[in-house]
Amino acid sequence: MPRIYLSPPDISAADHASVDAVLSSNWVAPVGPHLNMFESEVASIAGVDHAVALNSGTAALHLALILLGVGAGDSVICPTLTFAASANPIRYLGANPVFVDSEEASWNIDPARLEQALQKEANIKAVIVVHLYGQCAEMDKIIELCERYNVPIIEDAAEALGASYKGCPAGSFGALSFFSFNGNKIITTSGGGMLLSNSEAWIEQARYLATQAREPVQHYEHKAVGYNYRMSNVLAGLGSSQLSDLPRRIKVKKTHYEAYSVALNSLDGVSMMPISESCQNNYWLSCFTIDPSQSGVTRDMILNALSTAGIEARPVWKPLHLQPVFADCQVYGGDCSQRIFDQGICLPSGSNLSDEERGEVIDIIRSCFAIN
Ligand SMILES: Cc1ncc(COP(=O)(O)O)c(C=O)c1O
Repeated sequence: MPRIYLSPPDISAADHASVDAVLSSNWVAPVGPHLNMFESEVASIAGVDHAVALNSGTAALHLALILLGVGAGDSVICPTLTFAASANPIRYLGANPVFVDSEEASWNIDPARLEQALQKEANIKAVIVVHLYGQCAEMDKIIELCERYNVPIIEDAAEALGASYKGCPAGSFGALSFFSFNGNKIITTSGGGMLLSNSEAWIEQARYLATQAREPVQHYEHKAVGYNYRMSNVLAGLGSSQLSDLPRRIKVKKTHYEAYSVALNSLDGVSMMPISESCQNNYWLSCFTIDPSQSGVTRDMILNALSTAGIEARPVWKPLHLQPVFADCQVYGGDCSQRIFDQGICLPSGSNLSDEERGEVIDIIRSCFAIN
């Protein structure tokens, strides 16, 4: 077991007190005042009018695709450099993911490649935009393209709570957007997610589908197939408490990124993930690439050295067009995301990572260069 984790939960005494208070209130089912409160708090941070708390970000994306009418045979555009959960719900509905490469500037979906996909593909029902590692995608260009081709945006802001682009918060750009509160995210409800939109009708429909599509009558009446996707009120209490600590977490994570940059950027072949001037990141994970042609040091040499020292680090997401499960899907470009995967490492970035622990991580990485 590692001693230093990539992005562990950060649970405070206030979180314990908050969960205790919810348990004492007996509102422990997926209904109650803490859910309403957590929904309005997250909606307010994202600058969006309506929100429904769910048991995962994946469930939120599944419902978003249903609300946009995605069905068998349709296509949905998705960046290739992301977690599989950004694309799996497309397949739940029998639709086809169309993958688009990253741009070097932000590691997010490349607007030029996106335009090619929008030009060439038929039956595109939605574009999923991911804000990778807490940095927003190039939204001005993406919004202009999606408006021109009349395709709605679903914002996968799973990793980007608290980030913003040109002063507008992550979560405020899509027709629908969602966050994840999975255990490794910047705030956690152990597992959880939230779907947001300015359309009250969509969010109410999502709430209905997430509650087994139960009709509002006294007996159990169902006219549609529903899901059991709601968040528990206990976890919403934890979410609100965690959320109140978000500004501190972003500050600490930014300090990690800056310290890693100072210590590592001067090493041969090392480049920290570029930070776009248009974005205020939440610095969820600090990442860098290592070009072995300059130093002889490879991604895996560094990962192995860290692992031997009891430090958890990970390769950057493996592009989805390279995953066996999506091997039959169309992809536009691919070289940029493949390079980032081949050379990219995510470093321990927890909001509870101490300066000493971060120093240990840095020492191990620098020692890989000293012996070469
Ligand atoms: C980019 C991205 N999209 C979607 C998800 C899915 O969220 P969840 O784990 O809450 O289902 C995650 C994280 O897990 C993610 O990192």
